Amino acid sequence: MVIWRILKLMLFTELTTEISIKPLIKWAGGKRNLLKIYKKLFPKKFNRYHEPFLGSGAVFFFLRPKKAVLIDKNEELINFYEVVRDHPLELMELVSTYKVDKDFYYQIRELDPKKLSKIERAARFLYLNKTAYNGLWRVNSKGKFNVPFGRYKKVKFFDRENLLRASELLKNAVILHSDFEEVTKYAQKGDFVYLDPPYYPISETSNFRNYTSKGFSKEDHLRVYKVFRTLTEKGCYVMLSNSNSPFIRELFKDFVITEVFANRFINSKAEGRKPIIELVIRNYE
Ligand SMILES: C[S@@+](CC[C@H](N)C(=O)[O-])C[C@H]1O[C@@H](n2cnc3c(N)ncnc32)[C@H](O)[C@@H]1O
Repeated sequence: MVIWRILKLMLFTELTTEISIKPLIKWAGGKRNLLKIYKKLFPKKFNRYHEPFLGSGAVFFFLRPKKAVLIDKNEELINFYEVVRDHPLELMELVSTYKVDKDFYYQIRELDPKKLSKIERAARFLYLNKTAYNGLWRVNSKGKFNVPFGRYKKVKFFDRENLLRASELLKNAVILHSDFEEVTKYAQKGDFVYLDPPYYPISETSNFRNYTSKGFSKEDHLRVYKVFRTLTEKGCYVMLSNSNSPFIRELFKDFVITEVFANRFINSKAEGRKPIIELVIRNYE
């Protein structure tokens, strides 16, 4: 038993440092496809890592930091990561019993997550994430998930080894269901904070914001700016992603602004998939 524990520790230490981890879910605005560009923009060295708009955690799983604070306002998402960390085997076992068909999908969608156990709730989240139309997690103003069935024939809910590696990595993290401003209580000098809020809209209809029932307003973007400044004063490395909009450019004009080309993937319309310019804003070179 003890030998197995040591072996497991050695194995997972190796895995978490050497082998990359893919995000476990699809997420609007996920940064997986930008990592090749982003990796040149991250600070070379830092202490703790903070990601207060976690989503699919593409940057967290790419960096695999030894210590991290992860925050998101989406309660289902946070419960999912807690269960991946604490009960990965039970989660995989349960979701594997779920059927990919329309009737079953709507049965699961109708369940009230607050009346489920933590593991059932995480399995529902993972199932809906993988079988909903376009992999979108969208809620209405009452917080009710409202995406239709995606009509997929076959769905892979998880990659077992990848999920187990994610589970081990999450053991190094404090995971919080909270507003992003909470990060200012945790981040210290020398830490790296990556901010990836819902983007400021370039037009009235563009940009998806309904990850949570509250959406994300102009006032919220001004709060992000305040947090960016506070963290800068504390001596943290701060990196922010946002849209290439005049409002964001003006707001962050005192910082280092880099343009990057991004492909939009969670968008059903072909014209929405063209490369577009987005901004990365940093308080360091
Ligand atoms: C653009 S996504 C982040 C994507 C992430 N970087 C990835 O790679 O998947 C924005 C995230 O912010 C979260 N969010 C929205 N409002 C928030 C708030 N006030 N505080 C914290 N998180 C919030 C959403 O639930 C969503 O997961």
